[in-house]
Amino acid sequence: MNQPVTEPLGPTSSKRLRTLLLGAGSLGRAFLRRLRDQGAPVDLVGVVTAHHGRRLDPAGFEAGALLGLIETEGLGEHGPNDFKKMLELTKPDVVVECIPQNIRSGEPALGYMRTTLDQGVHLVTANKAPIVLGYRDLLHRASRTGAKFRFEATVLDGLPIFTFLSQLQGAKVTRVRGVLNATSSVVLESVQLGSTRSRGLARAQAQGIAEADSVLDLDGWDAAAKLALLANVWMGGALRIVDVARSGCDSVKDEKIRLSAEAGAHYRLVGEVVRQNDGIIRAQVEPAAIEPNDPLYSLKGSCGGLTVETDQGHQFTLLQQVAGIDDAAAGLVHDIKALVAGLPQV
Ligand SMILES: NC(=O)c1ccc[n+]([C@@H]2O[C@H](COP(=O)([O-])OP(=O)(O)OC[C@H]3O[C@@H](n4cnc5c(N)ncnc54)[C@H](OP(=O)(O)O)[C@@H]3O)[C@@H](O)[C@H]2O)c1
Repeated sequence: MNQPVTEPLGPTSSKRLRTLLLGAGSLGRAFLRRLRDQGAPVDLVGVVTAHHGRRLDPAGFEAGALLGLIETEGLGEHGPNDFKKMLELTKPDVVVECIPQNIRSGEPALGYMRTTLDQGVHLVTANKAPIVLGYRDLLHRASRTGAKFRFEATVLDGLPIFTFLSQLQGAKVTRVRGVLNATSSVVLESVQLGSTRSRGLARAQAQGIAEADSVLDLDGWDAAAKLALLANVWMGGALRIVDVARSGCDSVKDEKIRLSAEAGAHYRLVGEVVRQNDGIIRAQVEPAAIEPNDPLYSLKGSCGGLTVETDQGHQFTLLQQVAGIDDAAAGLVHDIKALVAGLPQV
């Protein structure tokens, strides 16, 4: 370890990546299910959780067997507890990180990410806050060792928005507006359809799409984290999550949502980040009525989308037609395939 990545991956590579998975909750398990059912260029060398144990073996595991253990007696305590020693033992090509987000510090995920890249190991993450808080630092560390990090699953699950935007050579994003949090969409739609917020939340939790702490979804923190991430990655910003002006779902009453639905509009948590003419980047998230002439109007259920404008006149909208935990797992697999294909850092 401590050596730069020596074996370049590229367009002709048929390589499989030795993969260490951190976190096997809703998303980590969906990732394991996908490996078991659909396959991917992945050789699993370990899975680590907080309370369901850890299992690490450089000889590798079959995804279905580990999934079975996690869902029954747990993984046991096999392998070292120290993260650097885990890397030394399993010698992964990539760490796939799916642990809960900590919007204040990004930890402990941010520390794992730094160590991963410092050791020349690629990183795929679904965790927003560490990218918001550490993007430049992670880029710097990655460039020192030749490792890459990718994070498609952080925003709109499996819709590969970062890969897509990286194709707009030289264009600078000036505005993004979108519906970015699935749980709040399910909750507000539940009210719109005559049911209750608590039933909507229960449905989102059953689908595995709610954050462990649902306040992060309903009070707009998760959407704010995504906006700050897009500002920092696409606009060269240095926003913190608290820099995003934020009103949560509670700031709109049920009656207003239903009256608005009768008039043909859908309430959603809508986020916007804009680079102003003075160069300052402003971001906000709040419940807003989406009218029929809005490109985001067709969104249903947990599906999200975003409209992007650039300084070169691009203006387009990307909409999810499928969303949810399996789609987020597809985002992780997309990133692994992008590493194998040698796609550039986004
Ligand atoms: N769920 C989604 O639809 C979705 C979509 C896109 C992105 N994400 C992001 O993906 C991440 C995971 O989400 P999730 O819904 O899967 O969360 P989750 O269900 O709460 O699972 C989190 C997993 O991380 C483990 N964990 C916690 N602290 C750990 C640590 N220090 N070291 C190793 N493992 C640790 C937990 O272990 P125990 O199970 O033993 O407690 C659990 O297995 C979050 O950052 C979330 O924002 C989620």
